[in-house]
Amino acid sequence: MARHHATDIENLDMKWHVVRLLLPYLLEFKKRTLAAFFCLGLAQLASLILPFILKYIVDNLDGQLNTANPVLLVSIPLGLILAYGLAQFLNIIFNEIRDTLFGRVTEKTIRRLSLKTFQHLHGLDLEFHLNRQTGGLSRDIERGTTGINFLMRFMIFNIIPTMLRLLIVIGIFLVNYGIEFAAIIFFSILFYVIYSVIATEKRTRFVREMNQADSATNTRAIDSLLNYETVKYFTNEKYESSHYDRELAVWEKAKRNNRLSLFALNGGQALIVSLSMTVMLLLAAKGVASNTMTLGDFVFVNANMMQLFIPLNFLGFVYREIKGSLANIERLFDLLNQKATVMEQPDAQLLDVSKPEITFSHVNFCYQPDREIIRDISFTIPPGEKLAVVGASGSGKSTLVKLLFRFYDCQSGEIKIDGMDIRQVTLHSLRSAIGIVPQDTVLFNDSIYENILYGRPEASEDEVKRAISLAQLDKFIEQLPQGLQTVVGERGLKLSGGEKQRVAIARTMLKNPAILVFDEATSSLDSKTEGGILKAMQEISQGHTSLVIAHRLSTVVDADRILVMDAGRIVETGTHEELISLGGVYHHMWNLQKRKEREDPLKSESM
Ligand SMILES: Nc1ncnc2c1ncn2[C@@H]1O[C@H](COP(=O)(O)OP(=O)(O)OP(=O)(O)O)[C@@H](O)[C@H]1O
Ligand SMILES: [Mg+2]
Repeated sequence: MARHHATDIENLDMKWHVVRLLLPYLLEFKKRTLAAFFCLGLAQLASLILPFILKYIVDNLDGQLNTANPVLLVSIPLGLILAYGLAQFLNIIFNEIRDTLFGRVTEKTIRRLSLKTFQHLHGLDLEFHLNRQTGGLSRDIERGTTGINFLMRFMIFNIIPTMLRLLIVIGIFLVNYGIEFAAIIFFSILFYVIYSVIATEKRTRFVREMNQADSATNTRAIDSLLNYETVKYFTNEKYESSHYDRELAVWEKAKRNNRLSLFALNGGQALIVSLSMTVMLLLAAKGVASNTMTLGDFVFVNANMMQLFIPLNFLGFVYREIKGSLANIERLFDLLNQKATVMEQPDAQLLDVSKPEITFSHVNFCYQPDREIIRDISFTIPPGEKLAVVGASGSGKSTLVKLLFRFYDCQSGEIKIDGMDIRQVTLHSLRSAIGIVPQDTVLFNDSIYENILYGRPEASEDEVKRAISLAQLDKFIEQLPQGLQTVVGERGLKLSGGEKQRVAIARTMLKNPAILVFDEATSSLDSKTEGGILKAMQEISQGHTSLVIAHRLSTVVDADRILVMDAGRIVETGTHEELISLGGVYHHMWNLQKRKEREDPLKSESM
């Protein structure tokens, strides 16, 4: 567990501007923050008078009280001891109240920021999500929120009070015991801080190495486990273990260096603290011996030093952690500042899909600047018609769908639905008008029922059942011991390819949008099931504009029009009959598939 909480200090400079980013969240809970500060003040006050009470108790017990009254002789020390107990209690309880009060502020801030980050991540475009490393991303968020927690607590309730405390104690010593004591405290603290900062900076390299090794080890282990099946297929368990162990060895070494450097840091700090304590006590003892100081003063000096150095000892740790926290929080805010490339226009309108006509005109698109994927594509799908797109793998068919759904914006040309440029309508109205059965269906790790209901969460159970039977899923579900409540496993991997596709079809049917897109929606189905589904799809697409992408040409014969794509261009277009009589690419593809079917009917079924 400790490995995951390692803080990294990748940047040498403190990122104080991050504190400013957090300020609005603090100001939002002004009353609580103020109340917490008030409690902090009270607790500090209580702890400040503790050494004084202690001094008077000792002086009393030592017989310094010049009174002969026996009642006073007993009651004064007794009262002081009770006061000591009370001050001790108040110190602790006010600190606790402060923590409890301020805890709410931290929690609310973290909740708000986590939600904001989550919504923001959903607002970013597909490209961001294709490039992200989920593990790294979730670590960034986690570290960011832990950082906020830490920063808020320690920044406000440790650093500031400790500093104040220092000044006050130096003042008290200066007034009560002269410049000597004050100077020793001042210089020992100065040395302490300088030493801590230098040693911490020196350690940075080791901490960073340790964190890198930590991440590398985790990445390796997770990647290896995710590829469980592949490891087994190639019986590479040993290979994986040795690889993992190599990473672990690096981690172990880094950890050792880190530990040794921590020892140097803590050791040095202890030396400074002990030395100055000893010198102070020597001075105080000298004072007591020469009668310039009382025994109470001796205890007072000791108690004050203890109170000072305990939080100071913490300061080294806090310094290191705060530095890490600031860097982590900054990374979280960087994430929040990332802009999506596909953005809704401020004056975006609602898409009207009463007559869903789709038009692509002179569309050009590339994912990366130096590789064109879609070249000058133009076509129109009249309302209620079915357009099929066929073509070689990688020719850009699925990309057309991504453009229509506005996962990406085309570089030139325009895409219109019912005469409206899709860049001028709201993303929500655009996307709710389109239903897609994607090429690779991914399901939530939830029940089949929930996965289908996802198409339209407010749908009734009957509607879900109808979608299930349209998608030819009922026979399959009847066989399942848990029926509709069967959980499909991570990403839906417990279902077969064809079953997953049918779940995807069912949920799109439930969504029942004006525009339907099927991207290889039946590629994993056998001919019989496919036939049934195609019939259902035909029925459903009545009155819907639909775009169907298919490898198996037999599934698109009935399309109103067929586009044949090759390397991002449309090379042929027409109905099935027209394309056959044209005798071009389509005709060739058709003949090839027919011949294959004749030679090996079983194989073509699972093609
Ligand atoms: N996010 C991306 N970044 C860069 N290149 C991409 C990205 N997505 C797809 N491509 C590339 O764009 C090309 C077209 O991909 P697309 O998915 O549109 O092909 P396709 O016609 O649907 O092929 P298939 O029939 O195999 O599904 C491919 O060569 C692919 O490598
Ligand atoms: Mg594709």
